[in-house]
Amino acid sequence: MPRETVGVLFVCLGNICRSPLAEAVFRAEVERAGLSDRFEIDSAGTSDYHIGEPPDSRTVSTAASRGVKVEHSARQVMVSDLVEFDYVLAMDADNLRRLERLSSRSSGTARMALLRAFEPEQDGVEVPDPYYGGERGFEDVHDLVERACRGLLEHIIEERGLE
Ligand code: 4NP
Repeated sequence: MPRETVGVLFVCLGNICRSPLAEAVFRAEVERAGLSDRFEIDSAGTSDYHIGEPPDSRTVSTAASRGVKVEHSARQVMVSDLVEFDYVLAMDADNLRRLERLSSRSSGTARMALLRAFEPEQDGVEVPDPYYGGERGFEDVHDLVERACRGLLEHIIEERGLE
């Protein structure tokens, strides 16, 4: 019998900066752990602003300089995502609220949380939006997404008993 896969969806507003980065970083961590066949990983945005667009070039270049390839076509999160994915990670509180509203219209069983809840020794709760040149730039965002994704993977490995 095929082994069950664990679905992990990362969500931000536009699906061009933070969530496609988290998707790519988490996928790289999963590959490093030799668990690629156990995971289904994707990202989506709560808005329809950038549907069909590739990730922001600043996200792509920062990640490339660290050996992470970010490839995605932006899409909007759907009610069915909250049924199909096991873990749905929001980049900030506003997007988590939007997901919770969406979830009230579904029979979804996805566990929803802020990604940074999984960051060890966290110094903040949100992945700040770097799109308009926020207080933390793309390099900082990459660093904290990486720490949080490592924490998230450890959590899922333990919770699901993956080996
Ligand atoms: P993201 O960044 O949510 O991390 O993809 C943003 C991208 C676009 C916009 C806002 C945030 N926007 O307003 O167009």
